[in-house]
Amino acid sequence: TPSPAAAPERRPFSRVTPEDLAFFSKIIPDRTITDPDILEASNVDWLKSVSFSEVLLRPQTTEEVSQILGYCNSRNLAVSPQGGNTGLVGGSVPVYDEIILSTALMNNVLNFDSVSGQYRLTAPILCVCICVKVLADGRVLDCLATLRKDNTGYDLKQLFIGSEGTLGVITAVTILCPRKPKAINVGFLGRCMLGEILSAFEFLDRECMRPLNTHLKLANPITDCPFYVVIETSGSNPTHDEEKLHQFLEEAMTSSQVIDGTVATEAKIKALWSLRERVTEALTHDGFTYKYDISLPVERIYQLVTDMREHLGDRAKSVVGYGHVGDGNLHLNITSPTKDPDLLASIEPFVYEWTARFQGSISAEHCLGLKKRNYIYYSKASLAVALMGNIKTMLDPKGILNPYKTLPDDLQ
Ligand code: MLT
Ligand code: ZN
Repeated sequence: TPSPAAAPERRPFSRVTPEDLAFFSKIIPDRTITDPDILEASNVDWLKSVSFSEVLLRPQTTEEVSQILGYCNSRNLAVSPQGGNTGLVGGSVPVYDEIILSTALMNNVLNFDSVSGQYRLTAPILCVCICVKVLADGRVLDCLATLRKDNTGYDLKQLFIGSEGTLGVITAVTILCPRKPKAINVGFLGRCMLGEILSAFEFLDRECMRPLNTHLKLANPITDCPFYVVIETSGSNPTHDEEKLHQFLEEAMTSSQVIDGTVATEAKIKALWSLRERVTEALTHDGFTYKYDISLPVERIYQLVTDMREHLGDRAKSVVGYGHVGDGNLHLNITSPTKDPDLLASIEPFVYEWTARFQGSISAEHCLGLKKRNYIYYSKASLAVALMGNIKTMLDPKGILNPYKTLPDDLQ
């Protein structure tokens, strides 16, 4: 039996013809790519999931995206929208031969308002082009309101956040930027235990340090500890901020919650952050990584790691935990020298059942993509999933947008 994560059969979408390519080339002349060498980078994602698309389109404007989607909808051509292609759940690359619609060139600042601090940019991230039943051409839904408060009816833009390009393509976004702080300090601390007090920190456990040392040659700047946390302060007065941080560290070390620590300003900041930000990269050198992105009540966040370690015994190369503790978001990663179906069968559905038992979410920030789509029921009620299916049918009746992703197979 195929695993629930395996891709379903190719649906009967049209195949791209020379006439289709001629149409795309007319709209975006030098940005309709069929060269396999250039396409390769868009056909492989960060976790080395491979796809076989033969067409990459690189629009620069909302109008171009609208024309492309309208055409694909009328021709029944499947489209895989792609941003930075850093996805971790097989959501950002096609499954078969879907046309890749990349927003990589949609990086223009359209407007900056220095009073409110709002930047308006074309993609990556909200004007949305959608395919709608009555209308054969891609409609443009403008949700770019810059007001802080707006309760006029349903907040439609929220529908598109986390939809992974299955409802529309986001072609512009307004983001609110705080002023650049004058002083930044970063602390890297070794803790002897975890507790609610960590709720504002990023963390990594001792097992993460081995791949960081071995594969990326990043040295631990402090003594060996069960847990490490990275904290950052951002303020306007360097002397005051440093004094405050040092006072906090002194108190923390005296209370013996913190075993050791180091603080950085300017040049050293990047080095300390690398120890947290490059864990994912370090793990890829271990072989194959089974990745889980779990939301849990903060007091439970590490229990899943210890329970998984006990459950797997020596079957895994390593079981590590890191993530955004302040958000209650654990990244549980399990590595193995090679892809190992028996190991996978021991991890799943154990990890999903464990998470559901404690009312957690099986995807905190990485979405469901191809890999996790059939596990949605562990975190969402059947009625909620059925409503998602209705929304998908309303906005994309032919199902051309990022097929096989996000929604479970029974609703594809
Ligand atoms: C992170 O927080 O490092 C990213 O979400 C990547 C990951 O989970 O591997
Ligand atoms: Zn993360």
